[in-house]
Amino acid sequence: MNPKGVTIWFTGLPCSGKTTLAKAVRDELERRGYYVESLDGDVTRKYLSKGLGFSKEDRDENIRRVGFVCSLLTRAGAIVTAAFVSPYEAIRQEIREQIKDFVLVYVRCPVEVCIERDVKGMYKKALAGEIKNFTGISDPYEEPRNPEVVVDTDKETIEESAAKVVGKLEELGYIEKAKPEFVAIPRYLSDKLKKVAEKRGMDLQRLVLSAVTPLVQEATPDLSPEEKEKIKERLRSLGYLE
Ligand SMILES: Nc1ncnc2c1ncn2[C@@H]1O[C@H](COP(=O)(O)OP(=O)(O)OP(=O)(O)O)[C@@H](O)[C@H]1O
Ligand SMILES: [Mg+2]
Repeated sequence: MNPKGVTIWFTGLPCSGKTTLAKAVRDELERRGYYVESLDGDVTRKYLSKGLGFSKEDRDENIRRVGFVCSLLTRAGAIVTAAFVSPYEAIRQEIREQIKDFVLVYVRCPVEVCIERDVKGMYKKALAGEIKNFTGISDPYEEPRNPEVVVDTDKETIEESAAKVVGKLEELGYIEKAKPEFVAIPRYLSDKLKKVAEKRGMDLQRLVLSAVTPLVQEATPDLSPEEKEKIKERLRSLGYLE
């Protein structure tokens, strides 16, 4: 059972990464044992909002219906991920007030990168004038004024973006902080290790982490030098690396 329901709402241009990120967040929450429901524009437009188009009125009506479902699920204790372009600020504010436990994630990505990704070939059609009212090309996108999280999917990996969202849920108390995993060290070794740590002016935890980190780095050769530097920086800031 979740401690408290919440809707995590992902807004952004087509191909910015909403569906991908919502799934990554869901996977991590489920791994931690939470109950998650997901709503996605691709699916709801086939059922809940069948027949609605892409005028401002129809888009607002679509979001209002989805927001209503989110409010019920949230009240019942689910963690809900909702991935919708949802380009208009006023309707996002309206459903925020209705749902209350609402975390807005702005999935930010320059339109040029979205055009390059063009996962469903929609930008190509929009640029050729075959689709009208296409957000980012022939329809507006209003940037959110008060998002709880902003992810830059042209610069971050999916894992980094997902970690930002999960971290915010921890910070806001919707989920528990991830507990560290305990690894047993036999007493005859830990006694000696404590002495080594003492000599180096470190505590045992820090000594063990500084010893195993190079092993992990060696075993993950697919990391780019920038990614490795980022990890090192993080370990330095936590005091695990000099
Ligand atoms: N940090 C990131 N977060 C999410 N997606 C990313 C990231 N970096 C790269 N991507 C890629 O961007 C693409 C985003 O596609 P996705 O279908 O998730 O977009 P979307 O916002 O749901 O689009 P639509 O509004 O058309 O449904 C995917 O191919 C994904 O792998
Ligand atoms: Mg999508």
